Amino acid sequence: MPDQPFDVTVFGATSFVGQILTRYMAETYGHGGDVRWAIAGRSEAKLNELKESLGPTVVGLPVIVADAADEEALTGMVKGTRVVISTVGPYALYGSLLVKLCATLGTDYVDLTGEPQWIRRMIDAHEEDALRSGARIVHCCGFDSIPSDLGVHFLEAEAMKRFGAPCTTVKMGVKAMKGGASGGTVASMMNAMKEMGENPDLKREMKNPFSLCPREHGFKARQRNVQGAVFDKDFGRWLAPFVMAAINTRVVHRSNALRDKAYGKEFRYDESVFTKGRWSATGMTLGLGGFMVLAAMGPTRGLLERFVVPKPGEGPSPEAQEKGFYDLRFYGETDKGDILRAKVTGDRDPGYGSTSKMLAQAGLALAGLAKADLAGGFWTPATAMGDPLIDRLQKHAGLTFEIVED
Ligand SMILES: NC(=O)c1ccc[n+]([C@@H]2O[C@H](COP(=O)([O-])OP(=O)(O)OC[C@H]3O[C@@H](n4cnc5c(N)ncnc54)[C@H](OP(=O)(O)O)[C@@H]3O)[C@@H](O)[C@H]2O)c1
Repeated sequence: MPDQPFDVTVFGATSFVGQILTRYMAETYGHGGDVRWAIAGRSEAKLNELKESLGPTVVGLPVIVADAADEEALTGMVKGTRVVISTVGPYALYGSLLVKLCATLGTDYVDLTGEPQWIRRMIDAHEEDALRSGARIVHCCGFDSIPSDLGVHFLEAEAMKRFGAPCTTVKMGVKAMKGGASGGTVASMMNAMKEMGENPDLKREMKNPFSLCPREHGFKARQRNVQGAVFDKDFGRWLAPFVMAAINTRVVHRSNALRDKAYGKEFRYDESVFTKGRWSATGMTLGLGGFMVLAAMGPTRGLLERFVVPKPGEGPSPEAQEKGFYDLRFYGETDKGDILRAKVTGDRDPGYGSTSKMLAQAGLALAGLAKADLAGGFWTPATAMGDPLIDRLQKHAGLTFEIVED
């Protein structure tokens, strides 16, 4: 264990997204400077190979070997750092022991999970431990759900400044986006579909838009859920379903609940994708719907995993990451009918190039947040790190947050 804890330890440094994140950390902070960090994972050989590939700026970077099931090794890692940044997923398969240890030992934690069923289990099992120990646990610190959660946070702060009231209806539309999926992301989606197939209670729970809110939330507002081609007059576009809406909307509702309903008791939030017209909206709906149907059934899910989708460790090429980007539009309306629009953009592909920078900055933001300024518990990106994280993302991670006219 180090004499002084590391600021952040990247667990899963050799994953597809972990390697991109580690390279970003090496290029941005090097080793031996202001940021004290380490890399960790289950394979010493792979970790050393990764470190070697990062070049001379990180000579001496500490390497920690720990398997996700090895309690003793994980305990050593957790005790030796302020924040664990984890990319070891599917989290529902490999992430539970680590969250338990962070929550009980008081170490802060960020990850990239987009698995609502697992997050619910972690909150139920470990929230009291985190409250007691002071550990701040923040899931969903990648493309799902930082741009959505901080985009709404940003829009609502401006609404309060301009109108003295929150936008009680907010819609997010993906105006443009370029990127691909990795094997790890697909494996997480497939595992969630499998769990839901095996457990009807879980399937019911996942229909509840407030499933990640504290149990006593009391929200009743009916939520729009864009499940097919629909024309939206406020965006002036045909919309299609957005695959990340299931997790992002739940994170945004949890932020509202944790902030004592600052966005309103009747707050409504949905997400969708802009399309060129009715037919492209219908085509996208059918494509996504068909994939979901195949992924929901065991035998066809197996075929997809074998022949169609990327394998764990695979993902978009460096050129595809470099050329990727996203442009998200937010429309907000207060109860009185005042309207506000915002835009969040990111350079690099959303799922990897941009996600790895967001996750690194979320970990560093949390490491810099005094325990006295934020109690332990299961927070969201907006409620844990809010404006300071927006600043970091704009300065160091290629994101922009703006109020726009249309
Ligand atoms: N929220 C977002 O926007 C977003 C974006 C991208 C990815 N993700 C999520 O991030 C996670 C990682 O994605 P990825 O594509 O990078 O996955 P990946 O390449 O398949 O990597 C998985 C990692 O888990 C490690 N691992 C597996 N079993 C382990 C064990 N028992 N002990 C320790 N480590 C173990 C692997 O170690 P080895 O390297 O030794 O094999 C590997 O580093 C996934 O859950 C994915 O859904 C989310």
